[in-house]
Amino acid sequence: MESPNALNHLAIIMDGNGRWAKERNFNRTEGHKEGANVVRDITKWCAKNHISYLSLYAFSTENWSRPKIEVDFLMKLLENYLIKEAKTYKEHNIRFKVIGDISDFSNKLKDLICNLEDSTSKNSSLTQILALNYGSRDEIARVFLKLKIPKNSTKQEVSKLIESNLDTFDIPDVDLLIRTGGEMRLSNFLLYQSAYAELYFSDTLFPDFTSDELENIIDIYKQRNRRFGAI
Ligand code: FPP
Repeated sequence: MESPNALNHLAIIMDGNGRWAKERNFNRTEGHKEGANVVRDITKWCAKNHISYLSLYAFSTENWSRPKIEVDFLMKLLENYLIKEAKTYKEHNIRFKVIGDISDFSNKLKDLICNLEDSTSKNSSLTQILALNYGSRDEIARVFLKLKIPKNSTKQEVSKLIESNLDTFDIPDVDLLIRTGGEMRLSNFLLYQSAYAELYFSDTLFPDFTSDELENIIDIYKQRNRRFGAI
């Protein structure tokens, strides 16, 4: 049996881009640009280090309330990232998957996402999961819109039905959830899937986050006593 401290699924709430930029008297968008470089570096590190799933909170259902100029910038940054990094997914055998409701994204962005999901679907090192227009409450509401629950189902049967209709239907539960940027909250990210995740809050602003720090956090995670409700 696999050790309870095996790390299959790592999730990261990437916070602190805006503050990183402000500290340098830059526009907030510079923080996001630098954050995208960290996304690439961390993803490659996870692929090399045999982590099977990496989920990244890139745009939440609440992020639409930011100034339009910042939202537009984030969408463009994402477009450019998917075009520029297509080779990284190929070279490092990384599968790309999106969770969240992208139905209102531009056709160009939707096409880029679908094409990259298709072209990397057979890749077998890491699966990188980008959460885009994602929020757990929205995800669960979408499940209930889809579901027809047979009468007299047991609670276990309903749980199975919910899980097989979540955006993460083909992904195991989160083992370790890291949030950068010093805030200690989950902000509607993978709430169902993190029921037994170990949590780690780092003060590092995301653009300064490195694979060395990630390696240290994983060492700490390996020392944790995961009991999953047992004793
Ligand atoms: C939170 O920091 C960050 C976001 C809402 C966007 C995350 C985006 C990236 C890391 C870069 C783009 C990613 C890809 C895949 C291209 P914040 O802006 O809320 O920071 P603050 O709390 O310091 O203001």
